[in-house]
Amino acid sequence: MTAATAPAGASPPPGADDIIASAKSRMVQVYGRTEIAFVRGEGAILWDTGERRVLDFFSSILCTNLGHAHPAVTEAITRQAATLVHVSNLHYSAPQARLAELLTALSFGERVFLCNSGAEANEAALKAARRYGHAHGGRFEVLTALGSFHGRTFATIAATGQEKVRRGFEPSLPGFRYVPFGDAAAMEAAIGPKTVAILVEPVQGEGGVNVPPPGYLAELRAICDRHDLLLMSDEIQTGCGRTGTLWAYEQMGAVPDVMTLAKSLGNGIPVGAMVCNARAASGLDLGAHGSTFGGNCLTNAAAVATLEVLSDGKTLPRARAAASRLRAGLEALQTKHPEQIDEVRGLGLLLGVALKDPERAKAVAAAALDQGLLINLTADRVLRIAPPLVVTDAEIDEGLAILARVFAS
Ligand SMILES: Cc1ncc(COP(=O)(O)O)c(C=O)c1O
Repeated sequence: MTAATAPAGASPPPGADDIIASAKSRMVQVYGRTEIAFVRGEGAILWDTGERRVLDFFSSILCTNLGHAHPAVTEAITRQAATLVHVSNLHYSAPQARLAELLTALSFGERVFLCNSGAEANEAALKAARRYGHAHGGRFEVLTALGSFHGRTFATIAATGQEKVRRGFEPSLPGFRYVPFGDAAAMEAAIGPKTVAILVEPVQGEGGVNVPPPGYLAELRAICDRHDLLLMSDEIQTGCGRTGTLWAYEQMGAVPDVMTLAKSLGNGIPVGAMVCNARAASGLDLGAHGSTFGGNCLTNAAAVATLEVLSDGKTLPRARAAASRLRAGLEALQTKHPEQIDEVRGLGLLLGVALKDPERAKAVAAAALDQGLLINLTADRVLRIAPPLVVTDAEIDEGLAILARVFAS
């Protein structure tokens, strides 16, 4: 454990009460938060202001797939911060060029647009789709899935198949329609004369860790080929090794035209990317899109380091082994408590435990945190369990033991 030490004479760091009261009184109150303030982390462990050790099985909403304070990422951002933090996109820089090189070498991609978040990556994808559509028959409509989540900007709330994210922000951006997730025939039936693209998550994350039936993405690929549509895969949550392969599409027998990334791409440093083939990129010509900080040296150095670790040949096999162990433990829990647990589902280390009762699900998440295990509740009754890929067997067993106590209580 590497405790951060305050410089001599510095005032003591604020306690949880001060941090929480300060944030509550000044910040826009858009987040439902648990009353805990974290000060540092290492691997799968977080420490709060009171030095309480918490097992992090949420990876900060799946943003720290390599665990907290991964040495390779820390070293890369430290070196880059001392060298060059930012240059504009009117010039070139090495971290940006290297990131684009890695993203294309490690995927189907031929072209990359770099940005700062998931919503921005999806904005770039949606703009690419509209440019492509306008040049190919005057089309603009994008089909997405019910229960999906694609971000919080105006275009991405319009793309998101959940009414609650659009409520109060009407009028919604036109050009989107929603189709039940996992139903390829319904998707094909929904195609109209103005449809240009399908945007889906390979596994829905925020929607409740929903895994589509086998062959779904491959069927969507065939549909897109039949109708000259772009297949756009939102891998913001499923990418970067989370599902056991670098990108989830690799397990689904389909190659998309566009893939969007963010969250763990910089292992906690805000960086996003829209990766696409030349066809999808064809409409994004000079001046069509941009971002001041997209391709920033510091964030891109973090992403380069993250991808180098993820592609080292050891990290992903280890993540798959961890996923098997954790899933087996969760399934054993389900066998023991069928009156509470409906289903264990997910892919790799993106796992969901669907409970029968939302109130019980809330109580389980709260009791787990009381006992030192951080998990997340999504879609009302689904415990989302997503430790970092570097989680150890001992940590998995510790997390499972906490859950076993909580479910038995
Ligand atoms: C699948 C998916 N797409 C897009 C987003 C939006 O990403 P961001 O919050 O970085 O804008 C998220 C965030 O949860 C997500 O899970």
